[in-house]
Amino acid sequence: MTDTSPKSFSPRIFSGIQPSGGLTLGNYLGAIKRFVAAQEQGIETIYCLVDLHAITVWQDPAKLRNATRELAAGYLAAGIDPRRSILFNQSQVPAHAQLAWIFNCVARMGWLRRMTQFKDKAGKHAEEASVGLFAYPNLMAADILVYHATHVPVGEDQKQHLELARDIAIKFNHDFGLEFFPVVEPVIEGAATRVMSLRDGTKKMSKSDPSDQSRINLTDDADAIASKIRKARTDPEPLPESVDGLEGRAEARNLVNIYAALADIAPAEVIAQFGGQGFGALKPALAELAVEKLSPLNAEMRRLMQDPAEIDRLLGEGAERAHSIAQPILEQTLDIVGMIRSRRG
Ligand code: TYM
Repeated sequence: MTDTSPKSFSPRIFSGIQPSGGLTLGNYLGAIKRFVAAQEQGIETIYCLVDLHAITVWQDPAKLRNATRELAAGYLAAGIDPRRSILFNQSQVPAHAQLAWIFNCVARMGWLRRMTQFKDKAGKHAEEASVGLFAYPNLMAADILVYHATHVPVGEDQKQHLELARDIAIKFNHDFGLEFFPVVEPVIEGAATRVMSLRDGTKKMSKSDPSDQSRINLTDDADAIASKIRKARTDPEPLPESVDGLEGRAEARNLVNIYAALADIAPAEVIAQFGGQGFGALKPALAELAVEKLSPLNAEMRRLMQDPAEIDRLLGEGAERAHSIAQPILEQTLDIVGMIRSRRG
């Protein structure tokens, strides 16, 4: 039987991104860039392309395959090293979906009904939404907990889902009277945990926004990046002399935060440089910085996409490594819940 004594969990980082078509500057600054930084710290890092999450809304199969490879290219181009981090697509490690089923039976309807992202995505058509879209946070909890991951770097919009993952771990541990799953720590840090739309500073930059002008895509060329920043919505005031002066100025704050995250400096340093000046000074500097940082990434993504078989091979290797961590944890979970593992060799 499984050892049920209290455990101390060694640090392990897990995070995931949906291959639902097109990476944005928000995904890059809020997630991928920070995943690379975590990898550089020498902690064990596991990064997933969550294809099972993507199909909670309709995906054309050919486009899904392409988006998955493009996302893999994005991770690799940004600096995820498949030897140091485990990089794989979720559907290839069945333990995620199996643990998610158990979590469907742990989480309560009321917990999921509170999820604001479901309300936003399903909107007025909740009755027409897939069951998967509703239950998705349980799968997300399984993604993390099937590795006993302790830290999860994400953007601000995933905070509520991580709180649910904590609640699921706590309830499971309590129900079965042991400390089996770690209570995960969300890691939501830096200037760009919520990159906003370039057209409306109150809305998140998102791949699903109908306006392409609202976002910078990692596949945009230098001209498109510069033009979108030039046309970004602003207000008529000059930039404030202190960060506090950004209060109530969503668009100005967004451009300052994007600049800070791209340059790896604090927003206060951006203000020290541009405070008191108009957007005529900040925008060209930001466009130049964004092109400088994103163009090499874009070129490397295009190079990697020329060899899809190599991308698939790397993902397959990652899936093997992921499976070898996840499977024993799933089997221990089955023991705890009371399933007879009759097929065990
Ligand atoms: P997804 O695919 O919507 O986004 C991937 C990551 O990018 C971050 N992000 C942003 N950060 C800052 N500003 C933005 N405008 C912005 N847009 C997106 C997200 O916060 C996220 O970190 N459910 C997740 C994927 C997932 C997952 C997991 C994450 C599935 N299982 C387990 C962590 C752990 C999602 O849909 O992210």
